[in-house]
Amino acid sequence: MSQLLSLSRAARLVGVTRGAMQKKIQNGEMPSFDGTVNVDDLLAAYPGAQLEDNSEFDRVNYIKQRAFGKRVFERALPEAEVLAARLNELSRELATQQTQVKHFNVLLDRLRAKLGGLEEQFQDIEKARLAEFRTWLKQEVSAAMEPGYLNPLSVRDSILRVMAAHVTVLPSGHDFFIDGPDTLLEGALRAGIPLNYGCSGGNCGMCKARVVSGQIKKVRQHDYVIPEKELNQGYVLLCSNTAVSDVEIEAPVAGSVQDIPFQQLPTKVKSVEPLNHDMLLLHLQTPRSTRLRFLAGQYVTLQIGKSLSADLPIASCPCDDRNLLFHVKRMPGNLFSDYVFDRLKHGDEVGVEGPQGEFILHNKSPRPLVFIAFDNGFAPIRSVIEHAMSLESGESMHLYRIGSDMDGLYLPNVGRAWADALDNFHYTTLVTGYDLRAVTGRREETLKAMLQGMVSEHPEMRDSDIYLAGPESALNQAEAFFLGLGLPKTRVFASLVK
Ligand code: FES
Repeated sequence: MSQLLSLSRAARLVGVTRGAMQKKIQNGEMPSFDGTVNVDDLLAAYPGAQLEDNSEFDRVNYIKQRAFGKRVFERALPEAEVLAARLNELSRELATQQTQVKHFNVLLDRLRAKLGGLEEQFQDIEKARLAEFRTWLKQEVSAAMEPGYLNPLSVRDSILRVMAAHVTVLPSGHDFFIDGPDTLLEGALRAGIPLNYGCSGGNCGMCKARVVSGQIKKVRQHDYVIPEKELNQGYVLLCSNTAVSDVEIEAPVAGSVQDIPFQQLPTKVKSVEPLNHDMLLLHLQTPRSTRLRFLAGQYVTLQIGKSLSADLPIASCPCDDRNLLFHVKRMPGNLFSDYVFDRLKHGDEVGVEGPQGEFILHNKSPRPLVFIAFDNGFAPIRSVIEHAMSLESGESMHLYRIGSDMDGLYLPNVGRAWADALDNFHYTTLVTGYDLRAVTGRREETLKAMLQGMVSEHPEMRDSDIYLAGPESALNQAEAFFLGLGLPKTRVFASLVK
């Protein structure tokens, strides 16, 4: 019988996103059974995916590295002990299958002998049919012994099983892979799955979850003590364990902003990097034992000293929850902005409170995604796009950056790099030539005409989910425009960025 693979494993094997594979199945180009794919059908649908050809696989990794930076997505070997445990697991599987093969060979010999005995007892026609059947059986057995009979994807799957374990989260059905030395928690966060957790360091117990099946291994010591009764039921800390074999865990996944607790934590400035004379990139880092749990697109309050504070959207991905990025706009006369531009430096303390806000990715939607970032509205949009990429949904994405001027299109290479790396990512930049914080009078008409031009060029926008972010004035116009086109409120999402 042919080997069945989960969709995630099959997609990884041939180096495409899970979304792209789902599309192939929906288009009837490849059969699937209960969320699994037969390895022979997989090779038929992706005949180019031979054992030595890793180009697509490498390409997907490249996309992730470009999106998140090498710091976040590092492909490395698992730790030696985990590697040994995985090899041990595979060896056991191999031994079981070898025993079965031996058993089948004995059965085959018996079958041949029985058929030979029957042939002598039969008369002409039955005898001829039986001889025909014996010839067919012989041919099939010889074909199965040919070296080319082996599906190269089965070989590659064995290699991938050593490199990465597959984890399924119950009851939500989310799944992800554990790459390199990641813990179960790190693997989930990199894949954009917001599991419950607090410190990431084995102290709080909030990441406790039950292992339903599969083999795990403790890779970090933890101070939190799991009660004996729960240990016996299979509870472990996700931040301290990794997967050796494919694993099923029972753990709650945050489905909405209400599932994320309000947090207060100290951070230190890692860097303050000017992007142009009007914008800077602020990089804050949490202490090792504390992380900020948030959903992509949310914002926090930054507090400097006792008197300076500002609400800013997080411009980075929750998959790298220790490193928080912010795009700060120069606003003359605003004390917070003045301080950040003129005085904040490496090592300074900044308090973070939050997260807040409901502007998050609605990842169950099957529609294409359109993102429109006005000036510094790029901050929450960037976080949401990186999250969408980590989910590998396969839906097409179009990012429009609309700037008051060229400075409003800061970090221009980010969108270009995404468009270069992803087939389903499109990137357009536009400049209005007026301040998007003051869209009044004739400017309302010109902005509307710009949006209308975008829709005329891409009529599929009417069937997309629209994510808007930027200053209030531009945001209100854009929101009204898309609702005016007849899009329901449940498909137009807006984030106000001052
Ligand atoms: S997140 Fe705190 S113990 Fe795992």
